[in-house]
Amino acid sequence: MPTLFRKVKDVKSYLKSLRSSGGNNLSVGFVPTMGYLHEGHMELIKKCKLQNDITVVSIYVNPLQFGEGEDYQKYPRDLERDLAMCQEAGVDVVFAPTDEEVYPQVPKTKIHVEGISHVLEGAFRPNHFSGVALIVLKLFNIIQPDRAYFGEKDFQQLKLIQRLVNDLSYPVEIVPVPTVRDKDGLALSSRNTYLKEQERESALSIYRSFLIAQKLFRAGNTKAQDIKEAVRDYISRHPHVKRIDYVEIVDEDFNIKEEVSEGDRVLVAVWIGDTRLIDNWRLSYE
Ligand code: PAJ
Repeated sequence: MPTLFRKVKDVKSYLKSLRSSGGNNLSVGFVPTMGYLHEGHMELIKKCKLQNDITVVSIYVNPLQFGEGEDYQKYPRDLERDLAMCQEAGVDVVFAPTDEEVYPQVPKTKIHVEGISHVLEGAFRPNHFSGVALIVLKLFNIIQPDRAYFGEKDFQQLKLIQRLVNDLSYPVEIVPVPTVRDKDGLALSSRNTYLKEQERESALSIYRSFLIAQKLFRAGNTKAQDIKEAVRDYISRHPHVKRIDYVEIVDEDFNIKEEVSEGDRVLVAVWIGDTRLIDNWRLSYE
């Protein structure tokens, strides 16, 4: 079993003693999660295990990054199952703190990254990235990892964290991990458990729309407008698609593109019934 900690001071002192027992040469890799682990998370953990001596996983559903009326209450939680998966994967330490441990006081600090925090996801979920930035930096301060692993599935989140770490010279290496998909193309997400069978079928339109985008791009169409329209049209033709929040194309630095080039990403957020899904796709020639 991984060693489970619920208190900040306990995980800190345990990691301190582990580090010193290795002559302070041991590398610590960190995978922050909100639990209800799936193969996407496991991919981050696998990469972390390969690159570090000690692997720490945090499991915490962070209330600060959920807006009013969002799914904070119903977000799936199953610590037993998560612990079993962490054991299977050979995780050394699981940090699953309580709310009182993480937020002994209501935080008054807001962290924003210009050009990232308030666009796309940030425009539809106004305080979301402020909550993400705060918890991630807090967890970094507690765990003090050498490397931290983030999925490309949440591309805007990854860019936010990379930019924060750069701007603050934070001493951690951010390692991106490609999106893990089900056999049929649906990006794995803890929120997929909300989908009814027929809704799941409609959700596949997201992945399929990316294949259409890719085909257009590879055929030589580099007009973002055309690609975005094709994606939007395809998805919206499916039943249970309640609303498309956005379809956008950005480059690696999160600039919105009009003329698309290789490496740019199509980002979408779609409501399938009452479930909001996000996904993205890197446009490439091969
Ligand atoms: P959560 O949604 O649990 O995701 C934890 C990490 O797993 C994130 O870096 C996310 O991008 C990655 N991930 C999720 N699904 C993935 C998939 N299908 N393929 C690859 N990686 C995937 O993201 C969060 O939690 C929170 O915002 C957090 C960073 C923990 C802060 O609270």
